[in-house]
Amino acid sequence: MNSTSKTAAADVLSPDLYDYDFENDPIATLGRLRREDPVHWSRHGFWYLTRYDDCAMVLKDPARFSSAAAGWGGGNPLATTATGGGQSKTEQGLSRTLAQSFNQMDAPDHTRVRALVVSAFSRRIIEDRRDRIQAVIDELLDAAGAKGRFDAITDFAFHVPIIVAGEIIGIPGEDREAFRAAFERTAALMAPKRSEESWAQALEAGRWVGRYVRDLIAERRRGPRDDLISALIAAEDEQGALSDAELSSAISTIYTAAGTTTERFISSGLFLLLSHADQWRALVADRALVGPAIEEILRFHHPTQSTSTNRRCTVDVELRGKTLRAGDTVRVGLGAANRDPEVFADPDRFDIARRPSQPALSFGAGPHFCIGAALARFEARLAIEAIVGRWPGLRLVTEAPVKDRRRHDRYSEIIVAVD
Ligand code: HEM
Repeated sequence: MNSTSKTAAADVLSPDLYDYDFENDPIATLGRLRREDPVHWSRHGFWYLTRYDDCAMVLKDPARFSSAAAGWGGGNPLATTATGGGQSKTEQGLSRTLAQSFNQMDAPDHTRVRALVVSAFSRRIIEDRRDRIQAVIDELLDAAGAKGRFDAITDFAFHVPIIVAGEIIGIPGEDREAFRAAFERTAALMAPKRSEESWAQALEAGRWVGRYVRDLIAERRRGPRDDLISALIAAEDEQGALSDAELSSAISTIYTAAGTTTERFISSGLFLLLSHADQWRALVADRALVGPAIEEILRFHHPTQSTSTNRRCTVDVELRGKTLRAGDTVRVGLGAANRDPEVFADPDRFDIARRPSQPALSFGAGPHFCIGAALARFEARLAIEAIVGRWPGLRLVTEAPVKDRRRHDRYSEIIVAVD
């Protein structure tokens, strides 16, 4: 380990990247890191990258930067290596199963599983569901709007991906809430063990989810339906390529990846638009701006803004005068890269008419590029179009949302008024 360069970096600037204050408002800290210490050795024992070029380079170089067992900062409880420490054999077994998620694999396993998921998760499947997604959005907005004043998160954005992704995957509507709640409880497996009780509850929830998904797969094997599970089984039968554990893990990964990211995308997007009155007015006047507005929302406020996507070095790598050792964890700061002034002019200005010359890294890059990018964009587009169409005079009541201390990287509330 190159302890000299790591220590030197820590002397210059040593933010606590796990601290609530950082999570609540990461932009200034990330900006300083990008300027002063772009290849930063965190006191928590990982590298944190903040420049666009470095982030893109790492994502596109799986040979030197592996996804295997790297942990996933994007907020996937089932795909993230449990950090509880002192695990029993059963706990280790569960962690291993969870870590089989294909987003934490390298080629050739990653390529094989991903190809099947992509084929079962095509743009056509999404487009085919346009009417249903629109109906979900309309029903939620009818109910929320009837209140006069509503929370864009709990009354709306929170439910959109849970219903949409749940239906695409094939989770029956009557189990939707139980499945979601159990999934949420497994999130404790990502964090250091707080108490025996919460850890045991999270493990139990993990087992419940595992059993539930296995049963669902067995049911779809007996009688396929028009859903992702059946499509994956069909692809598997054609190509004989997925083990049961891989299939079940792929489903869990997709469900997790689709949820809070999309919720934050829609709710913080609405907040950004409403809190920039000129931009909101421009969108109301010209609905064609909704496409670029969605891209700008993703760039300006990455749904996992304060966190990152992780890789592990397979070999020693020299980067901006630092030596990243084989085995070191590297966190790719997607939100930070999206504010890099070398790529985005005046990056801290929210501008829905922006036409960047390079894509934001919001959905990653390279072999692990987000499989749900088209779906997330589609849901956000339909949601924002519906809201602008219904309530061009929508008002923001919450002026400065803060992150919920209990819920990772998520705002507590964003209240809006329709009257
Ligand atoms: C705004 C919403 C979303 C954002 C910002 C987002 C972001 C990302 C990012 C950055 C990655 C790459 C991770 C890496 O390189 O290690 C990724 C991967 C992934 N995303 Fe998303 N995502 C979103 C929505 C979705 C949705 C709706 C789905 C599912 C329908 C989804 C499914 C996945 C899957 C399965 C992967 C793993 C791909 C692989 O490893 O090959 N995501 N996402």
